[in-house]
Amino acid sequence: MINLRYKQAKSISESDIAAFDSLLKTADGYLREKNGLGNDFLGWRDLGIRTDSEEYLRIKAAASRIRANSDILLVVGIGGSYLGARAVIEYLMTPYHNQLNDGNPEIYFLGNSFSGSELNTVLKLCEGKRVSVNVISKSGTTTESAVAFRILREYMESRYGKKEAAERIIATTDANRGALLSLAKQEGYECFVIPDDVGGRFSVLTAVGLLPAAVAGVDTDALLNGAVDMRNSIFEEGISHPAYKYATLRNVMLAKGKTNELLVSYDPDFRFMGEWFKQLFGESEGKDKKGLFPASVTYSSDLHSLGQFVQDGSPILFETIVRASRPESDSPAIPYDEQNGDGLNFLCGMTMDDINEKAMMGTLLAHRDGGTESFIIDFGGKDAYSLGELIYFFFASCAISGYMLEVNPFDQPGVEAYKKNMFALLGKPGYDSGKEELLAKIAEIEA
Ligand code: PA5
Repeated sequence: MINLRYKQAKSISESDIAAFDSLLKTADGYLREKNGLGNDFLGWRDLGIRTDSEEYLRIKAAASRIRANSDILLVVGIGGSYLGARAVIEYLMTPYHNQLNDGNPEIYFLGNSFSGSELNTVLKLCEGKRVSVNVISKSGTTTESAVAFRILREYMESRYGKKEAAERIIATTDANRGALLSLAKQEGYECFVIPDDVGGRFSVLTAVGLLPAAVAGVDTDALLNGAVDMRNSIFEEGISHPAYKYATLRNVMLAKGKTNELLVSYDPDFRFMGEWFKQLFGESEGKDKKGLFPASVTYSSDLHSLGQFVQDGSPILFETIVRASRPESDSPAIPYDEQNGDGLNFLCGMTMDDINEKAMMGTLLAHRDGGTESFIIDFGGKDAYSLGELIYFFFASCAISGYMLEVNPFDQPGVEAYKKNMFALLGKPGYDSGKEELLAKIAEIEA
């Protein structure tokens, strides 16, 4: 269940919302009929995978094998081949999952930067522990992950020998093409598929996210069930569903000059969900000189950094607060202190969660007084089913919002520009034509 609260946003009138009716209906039609821009990338809409599919059963079997024969799983991937898995694991298993000694393998994410020192650090953590690798790349050619994987493949082969290394490496990639698929076939790695019609940032509910999550101990059945139920409720309810309303509100805010959306959570475990959200909306909408700039914060921590700006800085922002209904919590209560030197006895008996709730409402009202409006997305709770619902909710609202902006929400042409320059500078065959010009520009910058 997802509830969207927006009545507190006093600057938004029903007529502001109604002004987007026609765009909303068109977007709805594109999503239902699969006839909008990028319609060959709507595979996420009906989920590439079902809990009884052959692929899913293989994912679960691979996860059980890794859980039995490995202490560490290294997950190699970037962007859509990285953020979702990390977000799900950190939110449900906490960012400290690797230190908990709870019987679940440790999971480390590599190949999402060119940091050699990070890779070295993680390899040190692998010393004396049994390791498996899941390399994830739809294209099979993404440089960050390919470079890391080349080093890790050598590491695995020198540690385990070629045969056992091959049994400990799993590739998640395209079904039919790409360098990673060819390598996997040649070496005999088990392979999982990123369906053709599912783009990276919409792929967390395929093997991309499900295998690492299952290894980490996440209840992936519940995750998928939540997503399926959210899908059904969106298509049953249509444009009155909160997913459509949220997409509309984002467009209303943009029309009012609020070009930046801050996704706010008061739960530090949600931090990587914020990273995932930024990629989902940023890559889907930021094109043709359009789109909202998506950012994310964790309060109350970031109230002590960005809070000043949100309260009082350039009026370019609105906030979307994501709030899980309160769990059966083990939140510590504030103890009574005879001395009361810190003056905190007025909190005595309240839990930290109680204080967090008051901080949230106090902040919302203060920010509203300062001119920053907030919406609240209430979702089920801190469990896999509710997270599955929330993930699908964001998928759908992102697609609808992108269609309302009249962009193709499923491509990312702008991502290629840096790669072209980087390849030219690195001397990749076929990319050398502009190299001299780039070097001259760099000389100017460095002068
Ligand atoms: O959303 C996307 O399509 C991208 O962020 C990709 O996931 C990212 O660039 C990684 O690509 P690949 O999976 O091909 O290595």
